[in-house]
Amino acid sequence: MHPAETSAPRPRRFTAAGPLTGRIRVPGDKSISHRSIMLGALAVGRTRVTGLLEGEDVMSTAAAMRAMGATIERQHSGEWLIDGVGVGSLLQPPTALDMGNSGTSTRLLMGLVASHPITATFIGDASLSKRPMGRVIEPLSQMGADFTAAPGGRLPLTLRGTAPAVPIAYRLPVASAQVKSAVLLAGLNTPGITTVIEPIPTRDHSERMLRGFGAQLAVEVAADGTRTIHLTGEAELRPQTIVVPGDPSSAAFFVVAALIVPGSDLVIENVGLNPTRAALFDVLRAMGGQIEEQDRREVGGEPVADLHVRHSALTGIAVDPAVVPSMVDEFPVLFVAAALASGRTVTTGLEELRVKESDRIAVMRAALELAGARVTETADGLIIDGTGGEPLAGTPEGAEIATHLDHRIAMSMAVAGLASREGVDVDDTRPIATSFPVFEALLAQATGLAEATGLAQATGQ
Ligand code: S3P
Repeated sequence: MHPAETSAPRPRRFTAAGPLTGRIRVPGDKSISHRSIMLGALAVGRTRVTGLLEGEDVMSTAAAMRAMGATIERQHSGEWLIDGVGVGSLLQPPTALDMGNSGTSTRLLMGLVASHPITATFIGDASLSKRPMGRVIEPLSQMGADFTAAPGGRLPLTLRGTAPAVPIAYRLPVASAQVKSAVLLAGLNTPGITTVIEPIPTRDHSERMLRGFGAQLAVEVAADGTRTIHLTGEAELRPQTIVVPGDPSSAAFFVVAALIVPGSDLVIENVGLNPTRAALFDVLRAMGGQIEEQDRREVGGEPVADLHVRHSALTGIAVDPAVVPSMVDEFPVLFVAAALASGRTVTTGLEELRVKESDRIAVMRAALELAGARVTETADGLIIDGTGGEPLAGTPEGAEIATHLDHRIAMSMAVAGLASREGVDVDDTRPIATSFPVFEALLAQATGLAEATGLAQATGQ
């Protein structure tokens, strides 16, 4: 069973605290952490990973790869060692693979299993069990895998993989890095060339890392931006030493918090700034946010910088839907920034948000309304009229924000609480551990609460 379902909900009120100051470091990138474990488990030999995100989602991936034969261990130093089995040599897992809350684990592992001659059952928590898997079932079926899923193509789901699988050329009907990655990972153990055509670019960590592990992968970019990715199958992966950069999707909460809490002046170190991930920071700058990059460098083949963020007067804007894939997980916290801006923010093209860990359009509309923001929900986005910097005044005593097992709703509304008159009551903070276990400790550190209460300083790693 899942931590967020077996233990009691952990409600918490987030209230206005001191400005965010000093320097913090957020944990490793979730997307890159999942992929490090998966590819490490498929290489022949020992992969070393530092900066791995030790959140529940990544641990679900690690448990599944162990169940299929890899040895994955954490050293006292915090480094992770992964002894892989080799492409084509995954073992039949003895029991169902428990994916917890993690859509990325589920969809990418479905890709891996699809081209191996094994059968695996995938189960997950209540949130994950509502999410559509048809988008992965479809291309993987074309490659020869066979599925029995709950109605609507949902978990629990049993996948019978096949070897040899059939190489396909697949044009993504939705802009999804998870679907792209599932097909590419299935292609690893498939003879011939597997092709994914991506009309709208999504995060490219899989491509970067597949290349890093020695797979033959070629990318063509057409004049209209369409990317065609060719992967040569029956690959032999070489073990790697990986340094995982800080997660921009986790940094996002602290960037917005520092922008909206008066007096804040915060440096967030080591933030991954892959262009397929970093659009939030550009949007916030366009709204007037003071976000300065310091010491731009490369970590683990990804661009990284320290972000210096200062409290800013934000102005609402119309967010270009073209940037949605490059900040798809950051809209909940952007909505919070918009609620504190002056004027109107309009977001469109967010249909995919309805099938994340929760329906993030409807859930954030309800949450922000309860917190006192002025919000209108449309089919594909939210329209938000901000307070112009005045604290949010809402949440009547006892009215709790419903987070629906969605970590990013809980953290976004925690940030809203920092800029509220009475505080914001979040019904359950347990889901935060899926992606950012040290969030609350870092928040206490940055707002000076940790010192005031004598709490140990969080390191973020
Ligand atoms: C992810 C891709 C995104 C994102 C998710 C992580 C990944 O999902 O929302 O949190 O690691 O590939 P989609 O590809 O379904 O948009």
